[in-house]
Amino acid sequence: MGKTESPTATEETERLTPDAIMQLGLGFWGSKTLLSAVELGLFAVISKAGPLDAEELRERLGLHPRSGRDFFDALVALGMLARTNGRYSNTPETDLFLDPAKPTYMGGILEMANARLYTFWGSLTEGLRTGQPQSEVKTGGDFFETLYADPEKLAQFAGAMTGLSVATGDAIAAKFPWRDYGNVIDIGCAQGAVPVAIATAHDHVTGGGFDLPPVEPIFNSYVARFGLADRLSFTAGNFFADPLPSADVLIMGHILHDWDLDQKRLLLQKAYTALPTGGALIVYDAIIDDDRRENAFGLLMSLNMLIEALGFDYTGADCRGWMADSGFSESYVEHLVGPDSMVVAIK
Ligand SMILES: C[S@@+](CC[C@H](N)C(=O)[O-])C[C@H]1O[C@@H](n2cnc3c(N)ncnc32)[C@H](O)[C@@H]1O
Repeated sequence: MGKTESPTATEETERLTPDAIMQLGLGFWGSKTLLSAVELGLFAVISKAGPLDAEELRERLGLHPRSGRDFFDALVALGMLARTNGRYSNTPETDLFLDPAKPTYMGGILEMANARLYTFWGSLTEGLRTGQPQSEVKTGGDFFETLYADPEKLAQFAGAMTGLSVATGDAIAAKFPWRDYGNVIDIGCAQGAVPVAIATAHDHVTGGGFDLPPVEPIFNSYVARFGLADRLSFTAGNFFADPLPSADVLIMGHILHDWDLDQKRLLLQKAYTALPTGGALIVYDAIIDDDRRENAFGLLMSLNMLIEALGFDYTGADCRGWMADSGFSESYVEHLVGPDSMVVAIK
C-alpha cells in the first residue's frame, strides 16, 4: 500500500489520544476551582491589595495551610492568575471581568453557577431519565415565584443575568441599526444590563425595562449606577397576564428559552401586537446552529433549562419560523458574541 493511501487501522489507533476525553471528563476539577476562587473573593482581594505571595493570599482568604499553594498554582496553570517572583496577580482578563468593583464584572453568572447550578447538575442523569427539574422546584412550584421568594436568590439571579448578558448588550448596541429607532424596552430585563449598554452607546435612545414587580429596585439601582435614570425607567408587569408595553424596539433576551413552545409563540404574538408597524423585535439567546452540532454552549444551555425547570433552547430557523407565524414580515439571524446570536424580526 502506497504512502498516499488511507492510514491502516493500526496507524489510526496510534494517532488517537484520549486527551480530549480526559480533559472534558475531568473538566469539573478546573471549573470548580474557578468557581471557588470567585466565591472566596480571590480576584477582588488581589485587585485591591496588588500582587501577594502565597502566604499573604492564603491568610487573606482564610484558607488552610494544606490548600493555598496548590489552589493558587492550579489557577496559574489554568490561566486565571499570573505568578511573578512568587507573587500572584490577576491576569488582564480576570482583573477586568472578575473584579466585582468594576462595571465590567461578569462573575455574577459564576456566583450563581457555584451556589446553585453546580449541585443541581450533579443530578443531570436523573433529569435525563425523568425529564424532571433538578433545581429548587424539583418537588414542584413555579420557578420564578420560588426563587424570588428569597431576596438573596433574586439578587443573585439578576446579577447572574448581567454576567451572562453584559457583553451581549455591547454587541447589540454595536450591531443593531439604532440610528433608525428612538426607544427600546427590554422585556424581562432583570438588572437592565442590555438597555444600559444600548443607552450608553446611543445618546438619543430612551426606554427601559419590563419585568416582575420584585425586580424593580434591582433595576433602578443598577441603572442609577450608570447615571441613566433619566433615560431608562422600569415598568412592572407579568408578560403572560398583562399586555406588553409598546416601543420602536422590543428585546427578549434569554426569555424565549425559559418557556415551552406554546408560551414562546404567545410571547412572540404579544410582541407583534405591541410593536408599531416597522418596529423591531430583537430576540437573543445562545441560538443553536440550524444543524444542531456546533454551538455546544447553546445545547448545554438547553440542558440547563431542563435542570432549572424551564423551557428549551432553539435554532435560528426555529425562531424565524415562529416569528413568521406571528405575522412578522421579515427576520434575520446575526451573531453577537461568544455563543450568543440575535434574531431580529420587523413588523
Ligand atoms: C433568564 S432571565 C433573562 C434576563 C435578561 N433578559 C438577560 O438576558 O440577561 C428571565 C427574566 O424574565 C423575567 N420574568 C420571568 N417571568 C416573567 C413574567 N411572567 N413577566 C415578566 N417578566 C418575567 C425574570 O424576572 C427574569 O428577569
